[in-house]
Amino acid sequence: MRVVEDFASVRSLARGVVGLVPTMGFLHEGHLSLIGAAAADTDTVVVSVFVNPLQFGEASDLSSYPRDLDRDVALAESAGADVVVAPGVEEMFPVAPETVVSVGSVAAPMEGLHRPGHFDGVATIVAKLFAGVGPDRAYFGRKDAQQLAVVRTMVRDLSFPIDVVGRPIVREHDGLALSSRNVRLSDADRLKAVTLSQGLMAGADLFESGDASVDEIIGAVRRRVSADVSVEYVEIAGSETAAPASDLGGEQFLAIAGRIGDVRLIDNVTLDNGTRTVDRGTRLDGPSILYEGGS
Ligand code: PAF
Repeated sequence: MRVVEDFASVRSLARGVVGLVPTMGFLHEGHLSLIGAAAADTDTVVVSVFVNPLQFGEASDLSSYPRDLDRDVALAESAGADVVVAPGVEEMFPVAPETVVSVGSVAAPMEGLHRPGHFDGVATIVAKLFAGVGPDRAYFGRKDAQQLAVVRTMVRDLSFPIDVVGRPIVREHDGLALSSRNVRLSDADRLKAVTLSQGLMAGADLFESGDASVDEIIGAVRRRVSADVSVEYVEIAGSETAAPASDLGGEQFLAIAGRIGDVRLIDNVTLDNGTRTVDRGTRLDGPSILYEGGS
């Protein structure tokens, strides 16, 4: 496996069908499942590691975002990556960019409301990664369900010849969705954080049981989440449009965002109204690699 810092080197190493797994590093099993899927599907797997300043609203969230490139390189290699590209901010933005990719209505609700400018930052960097790496396929986790909808919309609108692959959420053994931010939770806050997924599972159970309305499902979620979590939103939204819905129909996702202390987490489950089944993601059997070597 090769570790490089620039896109020209990536392109010179790429052979055959190229799969890109864009990440902000501090890899966990969710990322490894994306890399594994890319390794099964493509000839050259490129993992990008770049903590993108454009998508962070709060300076403290950016500065406290966990980083460990040596760890990421070892994990990416073990999961089947061929190239890790880890550009510095100077490589990515030699000058402050004047071009911003702004996706419309799909980026407006939920994360868009609570993190103004976030999706402009995501779309701009993902477009830059697509242009720089030139992948045939790009792999994203469904934990960021709205991000996935934003990226798909951008790919459609800007005619990127890239197949966007969405993969199931990977959860810790107790159900908490894997996120690099989980390492910032204290033991006490972790107990509160896990109620986000417990709320979603309560909503999912109600959905599967039959006749519940959107409001009833959202109510079930809110009742299960700890009062110590500052819930920003609970919505059911269309998987393609990310538009919050007042009725069930088609493929939708039940999404939640909340703050536990200064850690903001999101999670969701996918609702299939055709079969009345829920994709809740998969669970690890034991502790995540996020905590290896840590406290
Ligand atoms: O999902 C993420 O980790 C980031 O939003 C992404 C897609 C790597 C863009 O910085």
